Amino acid sequence: MTDVLILGGTGWLSGRVAHAWRDAGVAVTCLARGGRPAPDGATLAVADRDAPDAYAEVADRDWDEIVDVSSNPGHVAAAVAALATRAAHWTYVSSVSVYARADVPGQDETAELLTPTVAGEESEYGRDKVAAEGAVRAGLGDRAAIVRPGLIVGPGDPTDRFGYWVSRFALAGKGPVLVPETDGHHAQVIDVDDVAAFVARIGADRWSGTVNAVGDVGTLAELLEGAREVGGHSGTVVTASDGFLIDHEVAYWSGPRSLPLWLPADMPGFMRHRNDGFGRAGGVLRPLRETLERTLADERSRGLDRARRAGLTREDELALLGELGA
Ligand SMILES: NC(=O)c1ccc[n+]([C@@H]2O[C@H](COP(=O)([O-])OP(=O)(O)OC[C@H]3O[C@@H](n4cnc5c(N)ncnc54)[C@H](OP(=O)(O)O)[C@@H]3O)[C@@H](O)[C@H]2O)c1
Repeated sequence: MTDVLILGGTGWLSGRVAHAWRDAGVAVTCLARGGRPAPDGATLAVADRDAPDAYAEVADRDWDEIVDVSSNPGHVAAAVAALATRAAHWTYVSSVSVYARADVPGQDETAELLTPTVAGEESEYGRDKVAAEGAVRAGLGDRAAIVRPGLIVGPGDPTDRFGYWVSRFALAGKGPVLVPETDGHHAQVIDVDDVAAFVARIGADRWSGTVNAVGDVGTLAELLEGAREVGGHSGTVVTASDGFLIDHEVAYWSGPRSLPLWLPADMPGFMRHRNDGFGRAGGVLRPLRETLERTLADERSRGLDRARRAGLTREDELALLGELGA
């Protein structure tokens, strides 16, 4: 194994995949638009995948491994058309969002999928991933690995979701923290570097097939308690009912004015996918506590009270706590 091409490599997960391969002593080339650097030691091939000749610079040679993270089925199909004959093995990073049902716990890789988007149809994340998976399987056959991560967490997370909790507990210190009801809610997360190491591992093994890359299923209550401990919080924890949060326009899951990882009650399957295939294919999960600790270190370096892409501002949180009499 000497030459790896990453279609991407300047983003979050794909950057960590580039690191993992580089640390394995392999020559890594990242193909991206050039606005962000490739990781140290990797070569950047500048190209825009919207352009017809996007792969010209990397198509004149063979690759031991090609990794693609794109969610654009047109980009994925064009890359397969240009590069499939050049690749000994291909790993496509998909998502558990390909599954048709979010209400069924315990789904494995054989569960029903959404219908794929077709050219000209409006883009829809999960359906686009199904279409992209199909292009990779059709072009690569048994040289393809399809990896379906669930919620990816850890240092550098651009979505600011998971880090909200450990960061908020640390910021609040002895003050109160607002949490959602946790009865019946689960949490299933995977550290970004566990996904990256797995992608590199199956590439090295030339493993073929489709696999969920998800953590062990835990409860949301356990995750929040872990975040509280790691954040060193000693204040009160105030639970807001779903009705209170909805009435006060607090969003589920992600984004501004949200409580991250809180999900509607009709999605009990979304954070409860099977992960035995991940273990069988050589995947290793670090303890949640370790991920929380390194996430907090990253959150501290980025600023606990910075503007975030996900969660409540401390000001909004205190206003809601005030309404609850806390
Ligand atoms: N976050 C989660 O919890 C989660 C869960 C399940 C699955 N996933 C999947 O995990 C993957 C995340 O990968 P990531 O974090 O590396 O994504 P990302 O940060 O969005 O990076 C995308 C990469 O593709 C490159 N790129 C985008 N548009 C391009 C274009 N037109 N031409 C050339 N290059 C282009 C970007 O480079 P430039 O912008 O520099 O050009 C970057 O290197 C995705 O497949 C996502 O669907 C994520």
